[in-house]
Amino acid sequence: MIKWRIMVKTNNYYHHDEITVLYRKETGGEDPLEEIIRRHSQNINPIIIKHDLLRSEYVPSFLPHRAQHIKAVGNVLATVLKAVKPSNLFLYGKTGTGKTAVCRHVFNRLSEAVSEKGLNVKFVYVNCRLAGTEYRVLAELCAAAGVNVPFTGVSKGELFRRFQSNASRSNTSFVICFDEVDALVKDFGDDLLYELTRSGLGNGWVSLVGISNDLLFKDMLDPRVLSSLSEEEVVFQPYTATELSDILWNRAEAALRPGSVGDDVIKLCAALAAAEHGDARRALDLLRVSAEVAEREGAEKIEEHHVRTAQGLIERGRVKEVISSLPLHSRIVLLAIYVSSKKGLETTSGTIYNIYREFCATLGVEPLTDRRVSTLVSELDMLGIIACDLVSYGRHGRTRRIKPTIAFDEVAEILGKDDTLSGFLDDLS
Ligand SMILES: Nc1ncnc2c1ncn2[C@@H]1O[C@H](COP(=O)(O)OP(=O)(O)O)[C@@H](O)[C@H]1O
Ligand SMILES: [Mg+2]
Repeated sequence: MIKWRIMVKTNNYYHHDEITVLYRKETGGEDPLEEIIRRHSQNINPIIIKHDLLRSEYVPSFLPHRAQHIKAVGNVLATVLKAVKPSNLFLYGKTGTGKTAVCRHVFNRLSEAVSEKGLNVKFVYVNCRLAGTEYRVLAELCAAAGVNVPFTGVSKGELFRRFQSNASRSNTSFVICFDEVDALVKDFGDDLLYELTRSGLGNGWVSLVGISNDLLFKDMLDPRVLSSLSEEEVVFQPYTATELSDILWNRAEAALRPGSVGDDVIKLCAALAAAEHGDARRALDLLRVSAEVAEREGAEKIEEHHVRTAQGLIERGRVKEVISSLPLHSRIVLLAIYVSSKKGLETTSGTIYNIYREFCATLGVEPLTDRRVSTLVSELDMLGIIACDLVSYGRHGRTRRIKPTIAFDEVAEILGKDDTLSGFLDDLS
């Protein structure tokens, strides 16, 4: 490993022969890149022939098992073609159930129809989570209304006024989709939604389509906003394994080389994705990564073991993302849990709290209270990186036992990258 790094860095200073000698030592005589370069440059046996179709931003024009949803959304929004303001609409359901795909598909089709009729209606799609702040959401609305907005320096009220005045001056009406609208409301409240559902635009109007993955989102809304936002609702149920198979086949036929995937692999991807809840994004990711793994191996077709490898890769990626984004105290708690379990100590709430305090002391960090840590433990449980169960101690009452759900080495590898915490792991791996 080290030899490899040195070699790359100081490449220019080696003679070709010496490099070959190093290759020989590491790989038993083969140039590790040669086969990869040959395969990629000649594109031998590609499995993925249309990469674009497997990317997450791709909006398919045919959505199996969503005809009813497309009709429902279409029926509400198509009044734009008669120049009538559509009712506001709320779409909800778990992740990967096709909400974004259905909404974007209907927007694409209706905006074509609207421009053919020469009507002044704009369809605007904003992903609130990606936009990040209320300011940026407003900036996107302004951009759609043809107002240039500086990055900062203008108040939100002023942005809203500019959007309104430009829209009414140009006599334009808007259908605005706020995707992942819960992200906006959680951080910034529902004022913007309130304003948009109340205020007019001269002769024009604004209709809203809200989308949320969070089924409890509605509880966060002011009742007035809720009642106007959900004038109409469409609920998206998780896909069944059979539905996922159809979706996967449909995409595989367009994106993969014929003969490179069989029904066994498609069914496996569908079943694995349906195991938690029928999430089409998971299923498609699994198919894409399996195809990449198989391609990298130089295989003729995707086999079930490629899918298993792909699943491991995706899962590790997910775990890494979750753990890397935890705040410091949650990481210390997580560390306390994994270290005690590795050492074979009992992992009740009490013990974990004591170890957590010791770690904090070593780090010179003020520990949080017992209760606060208990909340952090519940959050880690919800994220699936530990599991809690209640155990009864007879008349001494009940306590929580906390168990790791991921291999110690995997967690150690991620937490070990954090210089603050790596010291606690040194003698354990
Ligand atoms: N019925 C379907 N047919 C084909 N692809 C679908 C279907 N439903 C979802 N997808 C695809 O699955 C992924 C997740 O769907 P998406 O609409 O983003 O889900 P949601 O917005 O509900 O989380 C996207 O890549 C989308 O293109
Ligand atoms: Mg979505």
